[in-house]
Amino acid sequence: MDKLLVHGKGSLKGSINISGSKNASLPILAATLLTDDASIVRRVPDVSDTNYMLQILRALGAQVERSSGTVRVEPGEILPEAPYDLVRKMRASICVMGPIMARVGRAKISLPGGCVIGDRPVDLHVKAMQGLGAKVVMEGGDIILSAPKGLIGAEIDMRGKYGPTVLGTDNLMMAAVLAKGTTVINSAASEPEVVDLADFLISMGARIKGAGTRCIIIEGVDELKGIEHTVIPDRIEAGTFMAAAAMVGEGVTLKRVRKEHLEAASGKLLECGHLVEFNESGTEVRIFPGETPQGCDISTAPYPGFPTDMQAQFTALLAITPGISVVEDTIFPQRFMHCSEMKRMGADIKVDGGRAVVHGVASLSAAPVMASDLRASAALVLAALAAEGTTEINRLYHIDRGYEHIDEKLLQLGGAVERVPA
Ligand code: EPZ
Repeated sequence: MDKLLVHGKGSLKGSINISGSKNASLPILAATLLTDDASIVRRVPDVSDTNYMLQILRALGAQVERSSGTVRVEPGEILPEAPYDLVRKMRASICVMGPIMARVGRAKISLPGGCVIGDRPVDLHVKAMQGLGAKVVMEGGDIILSAPKGLIGAEIDMRGKYGPTVLGTDNLMMAAVLAKGTTVINSAASEPEVVDLADFLISMGARIKGAGTRCIIIEGVDELKGIEHTVIPDRIEAGTFMAAAAMVGEGVTLKRVRKEHLEAASGKLLECGHLVEFNESGTEVRIFPGETPQGCDISTAPYPGFPTDMQAQFTALLAITPGISVVEDTIFPQRFMHCSEMKRMGADIKVDGGRAVVHGVASLSAAPVMASDLRASAALVLAALAAEGTTEINRLYHIDRGYEHIDEKLLQLGGAVERVPA
């Protein structure tokens, strides 16, 4: 188990490439199961979550080869059971449910366990499969599904208590592409990762309209074929480095981004008084810290709103931005674990019922802190870069789940970080 030593009060300068999106890669890798042909997926980030997904695909019987960012999956015949040992490691494993049901007509998926960012139910995933005609029983910690006559298209509303569900929409879309007839997904998630999955499925031969809107219409087809695909850039990794660049940058350029996916993050940086400049094609962004930054309020929302996955990192930014900022997470109201750790570094943050009131302080100071989940750990890294002294961040495996070589990228930008065995 590694820890990260961050020597603070340095600055970041220069350019890095943003990796392929973790959250687009995971469902796309699951979607390779929808045919027995081989598919090739490029720019899959080398993070532990994508490795877990590849282990699950292998456990389901697929042949998997990985060579840096390129993954080749040849599923052949697949097994219908996703084992608990693997599923418990990653909640996103649930997105093999749709492809297994589409291919085999029955599935046994362990119920994913608890999660530190909040209660993460799977009722909408189950509702989606039931909507397509599957029978579902819960038994011994497993979700057992069967559709002996195959899945049948239907009109299904995927809105939950906190808005649309991303992986639920993905699961339904993946199940519906091989179902009989037409499926209409109302209140669908419209995140870029859902659109990337739809693009992957369409290239495989699926008939999908409306991805990226709240209503997706799918005409089932008899079979799909293997294809090659390059995943979209990771907008959350980009947003994380944008926040870092505003906090401690002296001109940082991020390459391989998509401007249209970064409107919410750049909007907030501009509102705080920082400078954000995209190149003409929108594939590179350069960030300079503003001279007189000021706090702003953030409320997370489904895309194109401000992403919950960037909330922690922007809270770190606001912790050292003059003024009072209010940060609200409407998607995961309990996702504020990073605040208690940042308070140990001198941040002035009060968390109450899904909202954090942040009084920007002049400076933070180093302290040993504990990463609690992926984005919380990223927030701690940003806070540590801005802090006085050397911060020790433990439980680094959280950050390794979703940030490809973050220490190397920070080093490339001149950050003083060291990965050491704990
Ligand atoms: C995806 O998770 C992302 N994961 C998460 O990113 C992200 O935080 C989340 O979407 C929201 O944007 C991947 O893409 C792999 P949801 P997902 O279903 O799809 C509730 C990260 O840091 N809900 O869209 O599992 C749920 O509790 C990760 O990279 C139900 O009520 O999230 C939440 O309040 C963490 N019932 C809301 O919907 C359900 O059956 C949105 O969650 C499912 C979800």
